[in-house]
Amino acid sequence: MMQTNDLHNRRRFIKTVAVTSAYSALLGKGWNHVLAAEVSLHSASTTGTLRLSISKFPALQVESGSIRLGLNPIRGNPPGGPMPNGPYYPIIINRGPNNTFFGLNSRCSHQLCAVDVMDPSSNEITCPCHGSGYAIDGKKIRGPATQSLSKYATAFDGNDLLTIQIPGLGYSVTATDVQPGAGPGARLKMQFAALRNVGYEIQWRASLEKEPVIVPFSRTADGGLNETVFTATTNTTAGIFIERQGEIGFCTVAVRVAEI
Ligand code: FES
Repeated sequence: MMQTNDLHNRRRFIKTVAVTSAYSALLGKGWNHVLAAEVSLHSASTTGTLRLSISKFPALQVESGSIRLGLNPIRGNPPGGPMPNGPYYPIIINRGPNNTFFGLNSRCSHQLCAVDVMDPSSNEITCPCHGSGYAIDGKKIRGPATQSLSKYATAFDGNDLLTIQIPGLGYSVTATDVQPGAGPGARLKMQFAALRNVGYEIQWRASLEKEPVIVPFSRTADGGLNETVFTATTNTTAGIFIERQGEIGFCTVAVRVAEI
């Protein structure tokens, strides 16, 4: 039950949750490697920003490097697949000359297969289904596809941080006290729209300079805090419970992303 003397802290806490509600942990191959990317929510829009640390991706440290990132798995084989097994097509990221980067939607316009990463020897992307070809920037160079790959806006800070704007990736989170305070027994309920086969985790940082830590959660208000990944089998509203880590800080719902 919420007590009035906790209202101030509660309001402050919820505000920080709202500002930083959508994050993505890039966990590398196998979905369990080091945090390397995150998504932040644009206020008043559903566009999310994928933030990627280039140093975590050897392929992107050289010209003509290419990776494919999935927010959910893909399934199927040519000629009818692969296709996303969830709401998102993988994102292709290509590196060109002079610190240029291209973020592309892997959806082939021909019959909707997910295209492969770029071949560094030719700087071409080939669709595994019927051979359509695309240039480093997604432009169609060979059919049967009739259209280019769609591009995402990208920006590189010249050092290590690559940001990619992904429409439809932003989402909102609400947090309410179940038991007020902080530490053992102080529980917070996090609610957010969870999409099918997208893995979410809860992260906490005491301040923005700190690396986030993964917070275990329970699916019930008084259950054991023994889960770290929430994956829904259908689109749903997730309601999970965490122990509040401190009176102030940043609690985020992260989308897990993997190289696929
Ligand atoms: S789906 Fe046919 S070429 Fe890509």
